[in-house]
Amino acid sequence: QRRTSSSYILLHHHTSSGLNSMGTRRVLVTGCSSGIGLAVAVRLAKDELRRFKVVATMRDAGKRGALEKAAGDSLNETLEIKQLDVCCEDSIRECVNSLPDRRVDVLVSNAGVGMIGPLESQSIAAMKELFDTNFFGLARLVKEVLPDMKRQQSGHIVVMSSVMGIQGLLFNDVYSASKFAVEGFCESLAVQAMKFNIKTTLVEPGPVVTEFERKVYEDAEKMDLSGADEETAKIFREVYLPYSKKIFSSLGQTPEEVQTFKVITAEDPPLRHQTNRLYVPMTALKHADPTGRLPLDAFYKMTFKHNSVFNATLGVLRMLQRRAGEK
Ligand SMILES: NC(=O)c1ccc[n+]([C@@H]2O[C@H](COP(=O)([O-])OP(=O)(O)OC[C@H]3O[C@@H](n4cnc5c(N)ncnc54)[C@H](OP(=O)(O)O)[C@@H]3O)[C@@H](O)[C@H]2O)c1
Repeated sequence: QRRTSSSYILLHHHTSSGLNSMGTRRVLVTGCSSGIGLAVAVRLAKDELRRFKVVATMRDAGKRGALEKAAGDSLNETLEIKQLDVCCEDSIRECVNSLPDRRVDVLVSNAGVGMIGPLESQSIAAMKELFDTNFFGLARLVKEVLPDMKRQQSGHIVVMSSVMGIQGLLFNDVYSASKFAVEGFCESLAVQAMKFNIKTTLVEPGPVVTEFERKVYEDAEKMDLSGADEETAKIFREVYLPYSKKIFSSLGQTPEEVQTFKVITAEDPPLRHQTNRLYVPMTALKHADPTGRLPLDAFYKMTFKHNSVFNATLGVLRMLQRRAGEK
């Protein structure tokens, strides 16, 4: 039938690429009140080829101002705003039920929160809360849209992970663990999803300058470090925090540079998309040495032994990035 009927091929092509009868794909994005979610929602809504209908969601509709402003003319045309809290199954179901045929062609699971600091100063309740958003939020969303995507035999699940989903970093124990969970979940799911013609992509940014950065540093300033010993508290305050801030200002990308749009529009999207090429050597260290000694030594030395080398390297990286940006 495929060989003899061109209309079948056309029809088949349309369904497998996730186009509906209007020739548009519906994209549901979570966490659109700011940052990466807001940027990708607006970029999709303003697509010159008008290929997308964007359902830009946020947990607190009262925060819609920045998105409305950035969406401009596309608001209520190619972009609509809906309430969705990834920690609440009912809110996810209500949002998906409100869509025609419940159809979601592309899910962008972006909502996430950060957490830094010594483990001794963090409560188990706070850790659970972080996992509830960063990991169970993703699991709830996928559970809701996967059965429909399977029936449609098409779909794309795009998940905001992090380089910290590949390599753990000092004082990011719990955040990194949540992104490792996301990575393991998607890596496992991707194989099954592929059987139903559903694509999976993990987006792995390094630092991105958004509200995220402001929130974690604000929390760090207020953090009660009395649970940690003096040396640990000192390392956090005097080594980690200043370096981490320097890294954000030197290597931080803009939300647009994360290029989630490129992943969504790719003909054959990859399972992993590392957004900041300056971080590729860091993640490569891990794969280069299965014993784990290489990255462990490198991070130890970089943090505790070679402060001046570290600072000089940041300077060079900043210059390289500026040059790359000028091209
Ligand atoms: N910025 C970075 O350096 C960086 C690097 C790698 C990966 N990432 C990941 O990128 C994603 C987006 O972060 P961002 O940098 O754009 O930070 P952001 O500006 O703080 O945005 C995070 C978004 O998630 C939302 N959110 C939090 N909890 C939610 C919930 N329960 N339900 C629905 N939405 C919720 C926030 O809403 P509220 O405004 O209501 O809090 C906000 O809209 C996160 O998954 C983060 O882990 C960020």
